[in-house]
Amino acid sequence: MADRAKGEYTRSVHLPKPPELRQRPLGGAVVRSAAYVFESAEEYSDLLAGRTEGYSYGRVANPTADAFAAAVAALEGANIDGEVAGEAFASGSAATTAVLMTYTRAGAHVVAARAVYGGTYALLHHVLSRFGVTVSWVDPVNLDEVRAAIRPETALVWVETIANPTTRLADIPGLAALAREAGIPLCVDSTFASPAVCRPLEHGANLVMHSATKYMGGHSDVTGGVIVGPPELIRPVRDVRIDTGGFLAPDEAYLLRRGLLTLPLRKERISASALQFATALADHPAVESVAYPGLPNHPDHELAGKLFDRSNRPDGGPRYGGIVTVTPRGGFDAGLALANGLRVALNASSLGGVHTKVTHVASSSHRQLDDAALAVAGISPGAVRFSIGLEDPDDLIADAIGSLDALG
Ligand SMILES: Cc1ncc(COP(=O)(O)O)c(C=O)c1O
Repeated sequence: MADRAKGEYTRSVHLPKPPELRQRPLGGAVVRSAAYVFESAEEYSDLLAGRTEGYSYGRVANPTADAFAAAVAALEGANIDGEVAGEAFASGSAATTAVLMTYTRAGAHVVAARAVYGGTYALLHHVLSRFGVTVSWVDPVNLDEVRAAIRPETALVWVETIANPTTRLADIPGLAALAREAGIPLCVDSTFASPAVCRPLEHGANLVMHSATKYMGGHSDVTGGVIVGPPELIRPVRDVRIDTGGFLAPDEAYLLRRGLLTLPLRKERISASALQFATALADHPAVESVAYPGLPNHPDHELAGKLFDRSNRPDGGPRYGGIVTVTPRGGFDAGLALANGLRVALNASSLGGVHTKVTHVASSSHRQLDDAALAVAGISPGAVRFSIGLEDPDDLIADAIGSLDALG
């Protein structure tokens, strides 16, 4: 090319190739290219036909996004025999959409946990229902209810490891056995747990989905999603993603992979602080209830002991994650007042970051639910969800107690 490139404009768009890397860049690398150059027309057509492997187009595959997805697969599949593959998405919702579009079709039925992320509920209830998909909503620790809900046309079981905002768990091993019997995949949204708290594949789940926006990114500065599972279940989801276009951008992928480096460290501290926080608030006179799987009176405390990771815990106990839902006495208005009275914890959207954030559930994440629907989902109108961050736990406790004391 160089000998033919005489003109200024030609020279400026045909710059010399960047150096080939002989050493692995420890800090990772961002490949931002949407297009790739081939040695020949045949190389491109072989790639497109799947006869060779490589990169052809930014919506189809990207090395930075693939590095992130492979890293999550390695973390989730650390103790799994057999290959675990991963695919990256523009958001957790894009990942959920691709999984549901892959494994359902007109006339299909989904069994889903009653307490799922609002966007997942909306996708199933408002969007996929228009394409002929029906849903039975179940309690994911009540295996009799789940067994009764599975029908011949059931295509998928969808649950969350730790539900938002109730912090109730899913009985992943029991659900996996039911799904296996029915010959359908169990997909677990493990966003609240992350692989540093629970690795659902180890307990029999077939697919694991994360909103990487939360604990994987960890700094409230990136949006992304990922799914992992055996290659034969992941490949068709990838195909749907390619056709629907919800791929992860390279810069976001870089940040998410970097976030993974400190995930266990953050999750360890967050879990320890959350346990301290939940314990300190549980007996406050202005508190009606504190929901946290690490508290011995939590209905799924024993199940958490079986499912959650115990690595590197000084006391040998499991990590229970960073979400604590506090319900003050006094209903809806007391919940608002608790959230408004905080000075360290931020009233902020999203969760899973380094800052402690709160949301008054009934007026924000679950505002679409009236009191009756909130009761069915097990949510009190005053519930305030704390996503514990990296601050000193004593500051967080003093902040919450100050706000609770002011409730009178
Ligand atoms: C449990 C859970 N799953 C999925 C999602 C959707 O993820 P995203 O916002 O990255 O699309 C969220 C977002 O809040 C979530 O909390």
